[in-house]
Amino acid sequence: MPRIPVLTIDGPSGSGKGTISRAVADRLGWHYLDSGAIYRAVGLAAAWENVDLSDPEAVAHCAARTEIRFETAESGELHVIVNGKDATRQLRMETAGAAASAIAAHPPVRAALVDLQHRFRRLPGLVADGRDMGTVIFPDAPYKVFLTASAGERAKRRHKQLKEKGVSVNLDSLLHEIAARDERDAGRAVAPLKPADDAVVVDSTGTPITEVIERVLSVLPEKLRQPRQAS
Ligand code: C5P
Repeated sequence: MPRIPVLTIDGPSGSGKGTISRAVADRLGWHYLDSGAIYRAVGLAAAWENVDLSDPEAVAHCAARTEIRFETAESGELHVIVNGKDATRQLRMETAGAAASAIAAHPPVRAALVDLQHRFRRLPGLVADGRDMGTVIFPDAPYKVFLTASAGERAKRRHKQLKEKGVSVNLDSLLHEIAARDERDAGRAVAPLKPADDAVVVDSTGTPITEVIERVLSVLPEKLRQPRQAS
């Protein structure tokens, strides 16, 4: 059985990972895994069920029974359905990001979500977006990128994104929240945010998105860059 190719794209929040990963997956005709949405969905489901977010076992049980589905709308937008409810909009809020970051620090929660993430590895290939895709979930992935940008630029991007979605937030408080989340993600004992040893680090500060996409695609051999149909 030939190994199914995986391109991992890890990095901090607001580095442009989501946009870049989706664009790259589209170009290649590969599947796309938004692992951050999985952690956000579990955080949200735990909140719905009044589970104590600081209790690793309770949240891990919640993770195991939460049904998470991804659906692509006609507009191309990716919708996340959590226990039968479309939670796409709620999941984008910074409160969902903070809840995700809190529960993601628990080892049993991460363990409960490994199989679900592995199931996204299907032909013709997978673009996996997250924090630990290249280090923990797909360590054997042949293609790895660590995408980053300055904290100021990341906060500005997140601010613009939220504004476009009609969510009003203060730039300073966003910068503060992003810095706190980075610190928690990079400082946790299990699967901390860091580039895999064999990852190519791409800094997108001040770089147009089209150029970042080309730099990410350049880690793949020429023959894989020919788009194919996702199955
Ligand atoms: O990428 P996104 O901002 O949606 O991720 C939300 C949070 O989920 C992150 O701050 C991180 O704590 C957690 N996460 C993780 N591992 C991943 C993806 C996300 O711990 N692979």
